[in-house]
Amino acid sequence: MHVDQLSSAQLEQALAQAETDYQTLLSQNLSLDLTRGKPSAEQTALSNDLDGILAGNYVAEDGTDVRNYGGIDGLPEAKRLFAETLGVPADEMLIGGNASLTLMYQVVEFALNFGFTNPWKNGTGTPKVLCPVPGYDRHFSICQHLGIEMVTLPMLDTGPDMDEAERLTQELDNVCGIWCVPRFSNPTGCVYDDATLERLAKLPSLAQGDFLVLYDNAYAIHALTADAPKLGSIRDYAVAAGTEDHIIQFGSTSKVTLAGAGVAFMSSSKSTLTRFKNHLGFQTIGPDKVNQLRHVTFFKDFEGIMAHMDKHAAIMKPRFDAVLETLDRELSGTGMGSWIAPQGGYFVSFETRPGLAKTVVALAGDAGIKLTPAGATFPYGNDPADSNIRIAPSFPSIEDVQATMDAFVLCIKLATLRALVGKQ
Ligand SMILES: Cc1ncc(COP(=O)(O)O)c(C=O)c1O
Repeated sequence: MHVDQLSSAQLEQALAQAETDYQTLLSQNLSLDLTRGKPSAEQTALSNDLDGILAGNYVAEDGTDVRNYGGIDGLPEAKRLFAETLGVPADEMLIGGNASLTLMYQVVEFALNFGFTNPWKNGTGTPKVLCPVPGYDRHFSICQHLGIEMVTLPMLDTGPDMDEAERLTQELDNVCGIWCVPRFSNPTGCVYDDATLERLAKLPSLAQGDFLVLYDNAYAIHALTADAPKLGSIRDYAVAAGTEDHIIQFGSTSKVTLAGAGVAFMSSSKSTLTRFKNHLGFQTIGPDKVNQLRHVTFFKDFEGIMAHMDKHAAIMKPRFDAVLETLDRELSGTGMGSWIAPQGGYFVSFETRPGLAKTVVALAGDAGIKLTPAGATFPYGNDPADSNIRIAPSFPSIEDVQATMDAFVLCIKLATLRALVGKQ
């Protein structure tokens, strides 16, 4: 029953039950963690065969000895392979090191200080980047670290609120970019629809100065089911709008092969990549091409990657099911919170009633359940409604995910009922 329809006596009774259950939970001395958006050991083990796969063959298809310096934009065969994950031509790819986050940081720093056209820092006022919220905390840390102001806008089921994105880009001084996670966004799991992609591709032409769509396609191929929504091509919309220099896509195999020892890549127009490549040349003589060749040898082709992703989905799906079935069974129709059932990615985003997220995370913490700190999905750690909690079920065992979710819903009930009874 919906909590708003309960009488005072019913609320008191429900609260008394929740308090008793919480005491039992405390007595269990649990130690569980639902914070880490990283693959489980079972998932990383899928890529154990990377080890030693080159078996002495260190020569790339163009004759390059991958054990030596050079090739700043990566091996041609790696470009071809990973271009398919982003849906772009291979000659619009740059293959980097082990982390797409590094590429994102380098791109933002380059745009700020040197500029793909004009340095962001030379614009009128502090450079600003639009941040759809809730979003990915490490995008926000890059901005904060580099002194870039973050301007939030709502994330809808279809992607960022584009009315707001267009308005802010036109009305504020020095809006220089927007962060996007277009497929299975972190944390809401939404997939941007075509209308959003088309408007995003046109956004750079509304800005006064150099504007970048920072398009972090981290979960491009991370579907949980075969019928998960597909993502349209922002590149095609950008080519039609003449903005392809301003769209920069990122991706990696951190959650395909090995997190921290995978291959990161990015895509943009040839001229944008050339500018960035020249900048990269001051930082490195070349990326880890041995790892790139290992990955190409391991996967062979895009079908190889997708077959591998099916194995990930088989491991991930039961964990997501445990989360969603528990939420459905315990909270559906109660008005105690809302959530979206994602069809891919790594997270479930939960909205408590306003003002309760910190309390829920603290209650869970006292019971030995680590949840992502409330506010982490917002710039400066500030969720104005104090309602978003990011659930990351990939790393623990299914049993631990289930135990954590049982505790989580109890903390939601307790926090909600305490707030409702306290108000009366
Ligand atoms: C949206 C998003 N982008 C990037 C990353 C990190 O990618 P990488 O390991 O390639 O740096 C993550 C990791 O959680 C992520 O969620």
